[in-house]
Amino acid sequence: MGEVETLEKAVAPFSLPRVPRWRSLLRSFALAKDPLPVLDATLARYGDTVELFIGGVEKSILTRDAGLTQHVLQKNSRNYAKSKFTQGFSRYVGHGLLTNEGPDWLRQRRLIQPGFHRQRVAGLTGLMQEITAETLAPLAAQAAGGGGAVAVPVHELMTRLTFRIIARSVFSTNFPEAELDRLAQLITEIQAFFVRSIRQPYLKPWFRLRGRFRYHDALSAELRALLGRYIAQRQQANAQPNATPPDDLLQMLLDVRYEDTGEPMTPDRVLDEALILLIAGHETSANALTWLIYLLAHHPEEAASIRAETEAVLAGRSPTFDDLPRLGRALYAVQEAMRLYPPAWMVDRVALADDHYQGLHIPKGTLFSLYFYGLHHDAKYWANPHEFRPARFAPGQARALQPFAYVPFGGGPRLCIGMQFALTEMQLVTLALLRQFEVEWVEGQPAVTMQPLITLRPKNDFRVRLRLR
Ligand code: HEM
Repeated sequence: MGEVETLEKAVAPFSLPRVPRWRSLLRSFALAKDPLPVLDATLARYGDTVELFIGGVEKSILTRDAGLTQHVLQKNSRNYAKSKFTQGFSRYVGHGLLTNEGPDWLRQRRLIQPGFHRQRVAGLTGLMQEITAETLAPLAAQAAGGGGAVAVPVHELMTRLTFRIIARSVFSTNFPEAELDRLAQLITEIQAFFVRSIRQPYLKPWFRLRGRFRYHDALSAELRALLGRYIAQRQQANAQPNATPPDDLLQMLLDVRYEDTGEPMTPDRVLDEALILLIAGHETSANALTWLIYLLAHHPEEAASIRAETEAVLAGRSPTFDDLPRLGRALYAVQEAMRLYPPAWMVDRVALADDHYQGLHIPKGTLFSLYFYGLHHDAKYWANPHEFRPARFAPGQARALQPFAYVPFGGGPRLCIGMQFALTEMQLVTLALLRQFEVEWVEGQPAVTMQPLITLRPKNDFRVRLRLR
């Protein structure tokens, strides 16, 4: 048999190309180090959907086929749960929406969904703008004192900004800087370890020997203790006579009641859900904005076109939530940045029962790696897929998009609950940044490369020069 083995004909009328186990194993080191080129090369060689062994161990179907992605995420979503990889994450972060499953997930989703409706997000617009202004003000001051420009590390800046936005949207509290930094650091460390333990499963005995699991369990306990304190403080404050609770996401979690029982969530559940919002809601937006700024620094004509539209619509005033639909160019740039650099670059699922898709037999237990990065760069779905062309998301153009070829927020019932929040946040940040500054690339930096952990981030931070306008 050649390098591409085929599955037993008796099993299915249609079978997938299979990357042999030895080849997967050989590549697992390269995959752990730099997955995107390995996955792209595999798909270019074998086809849009292939069977391979992750880390040389776990049999999995890797796909960048929009139809199959839609089948798994939407059309037959009931048959697909998150895989044990994602569920393993709950060891560290609990069972909030992102890591929850089945009827319990559905009950929680129905409970929490109204907290993310448009109007609720509209109510957070002021906060998002305030934090953005607070973050940009010292940079403007530095630029003013430094000849009109300041060079900034972009990923660091966007991570700080988006973490402040989500932390204040959830907890309102103006956290002490050191505590905020610790929170962010705990989340980052836990995530990095989790990704390593999955991508290099053969290191598990070594991690165990070195006490790495215990160490990260302790970090997660510290994280929960920190958040538990904020929640307890809120509950104490709410219990005071004439208390006026803030209108934030934590209060939403405390106020909601299950339809069937009329009961609130238990304190532990509130903690799980609040933590998952912090985790899901900051690195994703930070990465998307980082890549957008990288792209705008290389495409000043796009920044100029966003600015021209902003000036025409707002004539110098700050945008409100209701202005955002008329400021489409900033949104298209955000959408295009997430096409080129999808923060959720891969999503996994497992088949709960046997299934079929266009003649392909999918046995129970089949693992899926839905390769969003691959979908977003496939020339079948995109003209000039590697070029930054925000206009492809303008209303007339966007209608031509194939369903599920563009999935930065996933799709189907588990579509990102924070999508409206994130789009609003990113559009506002882009508008505020471009209103105050020209964004220029700082020459002489090493090439910027991608590091796909749970989210797709730049391997090393890079700087842009913000020049006061
Ligand atoms: C650019 C920013 C963001 C991106 C690209 C993004 C992407 C995603 C994706 C792809 C999923 C689905 C994962 C899957 O199906 O396995 C998801 C789920 C989720 N996201 Fe986001 N997200 C972003 C921002 C946010 C924000 C700001 C929040 C919270 C305020 C948030 C909260 C969540 C939650 C709770 C889930 C789980 C939903 C469920 O399974 O019911 N996300 N996100």
